[in-house]
Amino acid sequence: NRRVTVRDLALAKERGEKWPMLTAYDAMTASVFDESGIPVMLVGDSMGNCHLGYETTVPVTMDEVTMLTAAVVRGTSRALIVADLPFGSYQEGEIQALRSATRLIKEAGAQAVKLEGGERSADQIGLLVRSGIPVMAHIGLTPQSVHAMGYRVQGRGEEAAHQLMRDAKAVQDAGAFAVVMEMVPAPVAAEVTRALHVPTVGIGAGSDCDAQVLVWTDMAGLTPGKLPRFVKQYGQLRTALGEAARAFAEDVTTGAFPAPEHSFE
Ligand code: KIV
Ligand code: NA
Repeated sequence: NRRVTVRDLALAKERGEKWPMLTAYDAMTASVFDESGIPVMLVGDSMGNCHLGYETTVPVTMDEVTMLTAAVVRGTSRALIVADLPFGSYQEGEIQALRSATRLIKEAGAQAVKLEGGERSADQIGLLVRSGIPVMAHIGLTPQSVHAMGYRVQGRGEEAAHQLMRDAKAVQDAGAFAVVMEMVPAPVAAEVTRALHVPTVGIGAGSDCDAQVLVWTDMAGLTPGKLPRFVKQYGQLRTALGEAARAFAEDVTTGAFPAPEHSFE
């Protein structure tokens, strides 16, 4: 019972097999996904929004990603665990990126790291890969740049589509084992997927990517409010958990809980 490897993902692309990826931020949720056969989990910096109560991913720190990655690793035995490098932990250059990634691999036990940026991050990807750290790239909409780009579809129009292709090829040439494409027109993502030999992982990038990722709280219906168009809800956890909490509260106030079977003589 070994973990999934980046080699397994390369073979899946050769065979034309699609695979799912979910985010995870804690051991117990990760163990559910591991038991459900999710082959790759991302300890995403979306933990900022979904787990830590920030408004964006920008404030997330290395300490936070390290702690939650270690929890997800402890909660799983089969999935490949990818840890996100948070904003400010790799932008200074290759050496800073190597120091940050090394911590996520050695201290937290991740098997790979992810960072944002195409051509602009190729040098960092190159040194990590040469150092033996598998890197997942992330192009298109890159939420750590929200103050510069906002949250909107990327790669629309001929010039933007060409830049996206250049970014994809740059990260592949630098040695990335997979490329996340976020909020990119489906035909553009399809073209990039055909052009690359490494797998593409889509989120809001249409059905022709080699893999698909969703933020788990979005996928399971725990995230409140209006969700982006690219999300599909496969559960209603917010409703289910709220009902459980209200039923517990009701039982306590009425004295129905605890019953004799929950009590000791
Ligand atoms: O942090 C995250 O959840 C991500 C995925 C959306 C790819 O980067
Ligand atoms: Na992220």
